Amino acid sequence: MSAPSSTASPRSAAALDDDVAGFDGANDLLRAWSRGLRPDPDLTVSEWADRHRWLSSRASAEPGRYKTARTPYMREIMDALSPVSPVQRVVFMKAAQVGATEAGNCFIGFVMHHAPGPMLAVQPTVELAKRNSRQRIDPLIEESPELRERIKPARSRDAGNTMLSKEFAGGILIMTGANSAVGLRSTPARYLFLDEVDAYPASADEEGDPVSLAEARSLTFAHRRKALLISTPTIRGL
Ligand SMILES: Nc1ncnc2c1ncn2[C@@H]1O[C@H](COP(=O)(O)OP(=O)(O)OP(=O)(O)O)[C@@H](O)[C@H]1O
Ligand SMILES: [Mg+2]
Repeated sequence: MSAPSSTASPRSAAALDDDVAGFDGANDLLRAWSRGLRPDPDLTVSEWADRHRWLSSRASAEPGRYKTARTPYMREIMDALSPVSPVQRVVFMKAAQVGATEAGNCFIGFVMHHAPGPMLAVQPTVELAKRNSRQRIDPLIEESPELRERIKPARSRDAGNTMLSKEFAGGILIMTGANSAVGLRSTPARYLFLDEVDAYPASADEEGDPVSLAEARSLTFAHRRKALLISTPTIRGL
């Protein structure tokens, strides 16, 4: 009864290099695992937008590369939404048509590409959230190659995506309306983007202030949370 010494020999150094844990595909697993451990990047949201974002003719009067220089006052706001900034909550009271929603969409693109986590984007109503998804979010993804690669179109099978939710590695974007308490409570959210807050109802399905309901979603993320609230107020003092 002799041991088959040839097959029991230790794995060669080359084999160890190829497969650290000793089975096929182990290195792929390790690579994926270390990607998940990677810290958020130093890149800011405005730098990301200048590098990766394209505006489509479907949603923009000036299609082509997104240039922060075109709306320079949005740079500080976008950069406060970057992981390098300690700011957690940005409230932007603004005039009409100054590029606020697009800057918020840059925030969405940045999160999908570089700092993934659950994100909740709120429009005044579910109907408007659907329209915004079609007119603004789909083009955001389709026109930006880095995002197109990461988010499958809603129509493909097992895409994990619908009109109101877009999945990406490490996170998901949920879109909803301030009139839907269920939508606002649907998910914990590290990131919040509340647009057109002036048009929100005072109470969502009689469950209270939609802004408070949405912001409660992010509490568990403590210092890593980021919230952007945008509003063009119509009633003085409100
Ligand atoms: N940096 C940019 N470069 C080129 N076009 C831009 C830029 N930012 C915004 N735009 C365009 O300006 C228009 C208004 O932008 P946006 O809808 O973001 O503004 P807003 O402040 O959210 O407007 P509203 O008051 O209607 O909510 C859009 O057509 C948008 O594509
Ligand atoms: Mg807007």
